Amino acid sequence: MKNFIALLTAGLAFVSSAGAQSPAETMHDTYCVVCHGTEVYTKDMRLANDYKSLRAQVDLWQTNLSLNWSNAEIDTMTAWLAQRYYGLTCSAEC
Ligand code: HEC
Repeated sequence: MKNFIALLTAGLAFVSSAGAQSPAETMHDTYCVVCHGTEVYTKDMRLANDYKSLRAQVDLWQTNLSLNWSNAEIDTMTAWLAQRYYGLTCSAEC
């Protein structure tokens, strides 16, 4: 019985972590929705038209906010936005 409960608990923990936010989404909710929602990523006349300019926007905003993100963090956020909102894929140079 004890084992069964342990298994059940482990199973529940697995299910709830599967529904958890990605690190990029958490970073985004924490720092990026203060001024705009996600509608800026899908509007007409977007500032970012390709992966490189999207990354430049992410870098600009993390610099503006003094977040001191590493290149890896900028890449994580760029990849998340690119895939989820912009429908962009990373080309050869990134
Ligand atoms: C101080 C306010 C503010 C914060 C905080 C902010 N932004 Fe922005 N962001 C703006 C404004 C203003 C624009 C320009 C919106 C427009 O052109 O309609 C913009 C535009 C953008 C764009 C370009 C959208 C396009 O047109 O393609 C991206 C990408 C972006 N922000 C990402 C981020 C990310 C990532 C963060 C968190 C690190 C962030 N922003 C935090 C104000 C902010």
